[in-house]
Amino acid sequence: MFIKHSTIETKPLLLLVLIIITISIGGLVEIVPLYTVETTIERVEGVRPYTPLEQAGRNIYVREGCYLCHSQMIRPFRDEVERYGHYSLAAESMYDHPFQWGSKRTGPDLARVGGKYSNDWHVAHMINPRALVPESIMPGYPFLMRELAADDMRAHLETLRMIGVPYSDDMVENAAADLAAQADPDGDHDSLLARYPKAVVGDFDGDPSRLSEMDALLAYLQMLGTLVDFADANPANLTQ
Ligand code: HEC
Repeated sequence: MFIKHSTIETKPLLLLVLIIITISIGGLVEIVPLYTVETTIERVEGVRPYTPLEQAGRNIYVREGCYLCHSQMIRPFRDEVERYGHYSLAAESMYDHPFQWGSKRTGPDLARVGGKYSNDWHVAHMINPRALVPESIMPGYPFLMRELAADDMRAHLETLRMIGVPYSDDMVENAAADLAAQADPDGDHDSLLARYPKAVVGDFDGDPSRLSEMDALLAYLQMLGTLVDFADANPANLTQ
């Protein structure tokens, strides 16, 4: 045995080949099973793709760089869970392209900000944060009251579908109609909610006559973290 070993150790090329074989076994054992599973993210009930209006709002969130000051990732630590709610699950951001976990918290985490404040609060806060929080250093975004330019939402949905977001043909075909209906108090909310359960509907920016960037951003903020029902969730069963 030891003599055979010295043969290996005195022949660098043989040693190299044997090292490569040994290491590849470890690599293959770890990598090959991943090809047989469709996803490594555990499916969680309630998670759905964004409505066209939420997606348009999300695009504004990314455009304005809100992620530079706000994270969307509640970590599984007691102080975070007590402040923000249940820690984030991987599935909750599985349709995010690009994801908005962030790495900087100049402002609070927004992963579960949905439903925390009224629409009126958000509008006033987005226009001038200091009107509500005198010590705030968040910039104002009054220009978001301008009209939303989103006649390309169908193309956005199709593009997201290409990279794996499960938008159905029905969702893609109705993209423009759903976009308009969500912020219209008299819109067809039934078919919107059938396609996108738990979507927050109704006027967001206080002006039902037109669709503004503020409407889109609030439709997005008001649904953040609300899709999964944690009411009777046992943290021990949520393994993420
Ligand atoms: C320069 C850093 C900065 C940027 C950029 C920024 N924020 Fe903030 N944000 C803050 C700070 C600080 C607070 C806490 C004080 C306050 O409520 O104004 C805050 C608070 C908030 C809150 C209230 C959260 C809570 O739970 O009380 C929301 C909602 C929010 N920001 C949304 C946004 C959105 C949307 C954008 C992008 C359009 C954005 N912020 C950009 C710093 C920032």
